[in-house]
Amino acid sequence: MMTSLNVGLGERSYPIHIGSGILPLLGESLAAVCFPRRVAVVTNPTVGPLYAERVLGILRQAGFSPAEILIPDGEEYKTLDTLNAVFDALIRQGFDRGCGILALGGGVVGDLAGFAAATYLRGVPFAQVPTTLLAQVDSSVGGKTGVNHPLGKNLIGAFYQPRLVHIDVDTLVTLPPREFRAGLAEVVKYGVIRDAEFFAWLEQQGPDLLELKPAALIKSVAISCQIKADIVEVDEKEGGLRAVLNFGHTLGHAVELLSGYGSVRHGEAVAMGMVAAAALSESLGLAAMGDLHRIENLLRALSLPVRLPPHAPEAYLEALMRDKKVKDGSLNLILNRGIGDCEVRKVPDLARVILPILQSYQEGARA
Ligand code: NAD
Ligand code: GLY
Repeated sequence: MMTSLNVGLGERSYPIHIGSGILPLLGESLAAVCFPRRVAVVTNPTVGPLYAERVLGILRQAGFSPAEILIPDGEEYKTLDTLNAVFDALIRQGFDRGCGILALGGGVVGDLAGFAAATYLRGVPFAQVPTTLLAQVDSSVGGKTGVNHPLGKNLIGAFYQPRLVHIDVDTLVTLPPREFRAGLAEVVKYGVIRDAEFFAWLEQQGPDLLELKPAALIKSVAISCQIKADIVEVDEKEGGLRAVLNFGHTLGHAVELLSGYGSVRHGEAVAMGMVAAAALSESLGLAAMGDLHRIENLLRALSLPVRLPPHAPEAYLEALMRDKKVKDGSLNLILNRGIGDCEVRKVPDLARVILPILQSYQEGARA
């Protein structure tokens, strides 16, 4: 069972292969994109013991010469220090301009290994083997790479597209259920912003997804990647359209900031943020009442949280105003137009518009 897509970016175009049990085909996929024979496989101590030996064996069998580079597991290690440790390992092991870097892991490994590939020896080829649902439907596609800075997340980085994304949904079997559900929030996001039919399919197939049925996983990863690819092809460097991928993220980031990074998974915060954004859309007349209900019900069915943690509304407002999307005191928010469409709207009087939503959509508020 395998399906393939193409991200069309001229000479930087690349395939995404999605399937169940397709890890053994990784060597062929890399050879097909003329990936260098010498490969640094960047992974971490959680994913490595599960998949690295197999991946190294598959690569050797296909004629590649791979070596493993381990980075510590966790968002707190997505730093310049860890990046430097990767450079140290590459230099010590004699990796030259004829090498490639392969990320084996979730979004942290993918973002950091991608930035290493973008900058090592002024750029070497890069491939992604994402192993979390979030990485399979979002971070491995589109070329955003980077690390965090003590003053903020993802502040240092580069747009650098991979040559290949190879997704075996079977790797999701070992993923902790909470991580899996967090990834589902991004899947729901694609339905809300771009594809009503996909959203309706998710409403039907939720149980199959939660049971990790391969056919349902492949379809949801493939549609999500296709939607992201369509958007990235039009606006690779986020000059405009790509911002719609941030639906639910503005309030989500505020939740992460106020709750402390790590206590709430990014996808959980996005789920809460999407409900609040959908409530705002409804209050502005962009969506019918039933739409908010459907979004909330689907997220609940996927065991995702739909109410904001109880922080002071003023704290939320302050966090929102610090968002990168604030321009001249107005916040650009992504709002859904019904289900399957969205727009970027400038919200000038943010406090007046958002306070009632913050009050109604907090844990403990009357629904
Ligand atoms: P993560 O990479 O921290 O992975 C979550 C946990 O799951 C980790 O402990 C990891 O080791 C473990 N894991 C990974 N695959 C596993 C598997 N198959 N079995 C068992 N355990 C496994 O988190 P994430 O949610 O994948 O990624 C979050 C990161 O992605 C953030 O740093 C975020 O900024 C970034 N991100 C980037 C983009 C982009 O466009 N580049 C988009 C969204 C998010
Ligand atoms: N995750 C948002 C983007 O890739 O633009």
